[in-house]
Amino acid sequence: MKAIVIENYGGPEVLQLKEVPTPVITDKAQVLVKVRAASVNPLDYQVRRGDYASLFDLPIITGHDVAGDVIAVGEGVKKWQPGDKVYYSPRFGGPGSYAAYHLTDESSLSRMPEDLSYTEAAAIPLVGGTVWEMLVVRAKLKKGDTVLIPGGAGGVGTLAIQVAKSLGAFVYTTGQGILQEQLYHLGADVVIDHHRKNYIEEVQAHTKGKGVDVIIDTVGGTTLSDSPRALANYGTVVTLVDIAQPQNLIDAWERNATYHFVFTRQSRDELHHITGLIEAGQVKPVIDSIYPLEDVKNAHRRIEDTKRDRPLLGKIVLSL
Ligand SMILES: NC(=O)c1ccc[n+]([C@@H]2O[C@H](COP(=O)([O-])OP(=O)(O)OC[C@H]3O[C@@H](n4cnc5c(N)ncnc54)[C@H](OP(=O)(O)O)[C@@H]3O)[C@@H](O)[C@H]2O)c1
Repeated sequence: MKAIVIENYGGPEVLQLKEVPTPVITDKAQVLVKVRAASVNPLDYQVRRGDYASLFDLPIITGHDVAGDVIAVGEGVKKWQPGDKVYYSPRFGGPGSYAAYHLTDESSLSRMPEDLSYTEAAAIPLVGGTVWEMLVVRAKLKKGDTVLIPGGAGGVGTLAIQVAKSLGAFVYTTGQGILQEQLYHLGADVVIDHHRKNYIEEVQAHTKGKGVDVIIDTVGGTTLSDSPRALANYGTVVTLVDIAQPQNLIDAWERNATYHFVFTRQSRDELHHITGLIEAGQVKPVIDSIYPLEDVKNAHRRIEDTKRDRPLLGKIVLSL
């Protein structure tokens, strides 16, 4: 089968199109899936450049989203059969989705939402599980709460705005001026241009110093230590980003803040909730661009290049 193989860590140029053996079912709980679309996440380029080198043996096939068709099932698999349309996030540390076929355990699979194309479905699994974990499981976001979601135009942000809105929250987000209309259309109540303004100060001013109930840190830097200045007393900060440098959390103490650190593990149960919101028409995938698998180097260049001509809006998808 064709696959994108990483034999050495480095820039996008290490993503090589190769012919590799098609995986075969060796366990009764396994399922072989024909990958119709995958998507690109920051995790993919972090793996590619070697950030998780201690967890992998080269060569690697990366990729953390699959939308495709079940091709064959192990003898113990009862729920799935060839022809079923599925979407899921491959187990972190195992073979990824930048390949024509993917072998997985039946427990990882979810039925693809009705009326979504493969490319739309591939935009959901990793960010879907993450968004449910951060907003619902950790922050316990509820109707009437206020939430700040920086990075509103990103893969996580475009879905998080919609899910927060469906839960009845008032949503602050950040995005470049040219994207503001689209972010309001997704359900944001206040959009702050982070290239022109300090969004922590803007939220402070907008809430008249009261702050918001929940802040989601999708951008890192000093967001963890700055967040309490825009956080309500007893508010919650959820961070998705690994932050190497020490942070001063004295303001967090003054706010009686609660911090949650999220590193998403593949979770079919959390994806089911997102499937429900998609089928109810409350959430839709936002696709920035679609690249053929063979053009994956340019897809990585687009997600990594912070000085893009056209700003990112939603997910970059790979079609097969
Ligand atoms: N822990 C987990 O389990 C988990 C799961 C998923 C994602 N993540 C992490 O979450 C982060 C976001 O993921 P993603 O898929 O949404 O990435 P993405 O699609 O690349 O989007 C990033 C967004 O953040 C914006 N941004 C960058 N710097 C900013 C800043 N200083 N202030 C405000 N906005 C800023 C960008 O806007 P511009 O284009 O204007 O720069 C872009 O819209 C990544 O670091 C990723 O690794 C973690």
